[in-house]
Amino acid sequence: MSTEIADIQDLDGVGPVTAGKLHEAGFDSVESLAIAPIKELVEKANLEHSTALKISRAARQTIHTDFVTAKQLWERRQTLQRLSFGSNNLNKLLGGGLETQAITEFVGEFGAGKSQICMRLSVNAQQLNKDGGLEGRVLFIDTEGTFSAQRVHQMAQSLQLDPEKVLDGIIYSRAYNSDHQILTVDHSFKICKEENVKLMVVDSILSHFRGEYIGRESLAERQQRLNSHLHKLLRIAQALNLAVVITNQVQANPQAFFGDPMRPAGGNILAHASTHRVMLKKASGGIRIAKIIDSPYLPESENYFQITEKGVEDATPRNKRDD
Ligand code: GTP
Ligand code: MG
Repeated sequence: MSTEIADIQDLDGVGPVTAGKLHEAGFDSVESLAIAPIKELVEKANLEHSTALKISRAARQTIHTDFVTAKQLWERRQTLQRLSFGSNNLNKLLGGGLETQAITEFVGEFGAGKSQICMRLSVNAQQLNKDGGLEGRVLFIDTEGTFSAQRVHQMAQSLQLDPEKVLDGIIYSRAYNSDHQILTVDHSFKICKEENVKLMVVDSILSHFRGEYIGRESLAERQQRLNSHLHKLLRIAQALNLAVVITNQVQANPQAFFGDPMRPAGGNILAHASTHRVMLKKASGGIRIAKIIDSPYLPESENYFQITEKGVEDATPRNKRDD
């Protein structure tokens, strides 16, 4: 993607007033305009439909997003990077590490290790490519207030890294409700680009939505807002070649006669938006099981890890040990 035109004011149809409205709504760059749905430009920046359409076209033409050849798709895929979990078992499960240009969702009951994985990935993302990192910063959106700077400090120290440098590389945002969470992501394109963010975490994606939209009658609206939120995350991941991790809880599945009685919350919208879904479960002896439950190309397999001082590490269950 070419980024020669940096200022949105250089686009046809964007005067200072429109530019102001767009900036306020979180559209800070030509790329962010090119990937935004028209409806969003109309609603969030309060533009006329015809103006929004014109601006969107101009933005897409500027950075040539309309048509790509399969070869270009292939080339884009070659730029995909992988972030190490710090556990070979988890790396193997995810096909070599956490992918950029995708959303990876960790689902599991309380205490399954979702937040611990997010924190460890936030440490790893800052490391050199040769050490399994992405050589970039982290944007951590915390919706439950469970991010712990002390814990990250401890992980960094146990890994013989400079804890203060690691903490400095994590841009933290506490989201207090779903509107705030959506707004934070809407405004994140610029900061991700300027600060070389290579990993974005939303821990957890649904808690506010679940708490605020109660009852059948509000479900459609909830799902619609969630859908747009998730697509924004995916577009940022693809436009900036960064990795997105979201966490989610499980809910009872009353229709399950066979198999697992628990399923990820969030319904089809979340199922479709996540590129890879990984279910985490607590097993005996502090061992945890990670299982791929939905992915376009990763095989349905599982592997073991444990939570330690360093964050996450490989584990071997007793019945699989050689000794
Ligand atoms: P919810 O957010 O409640 O849904 O759970 P979660 O899946 O995010 O769980 P989380 O990642 O917070 O995991 C919590 C578990 O991690 C605890 O039950 C502890 O077993 C473990 N844990 C947390 N901190 C430490 C630590 O400093 N050292 C070790 N060894 N384990 C820890
Ligand atoms: Mg958590």
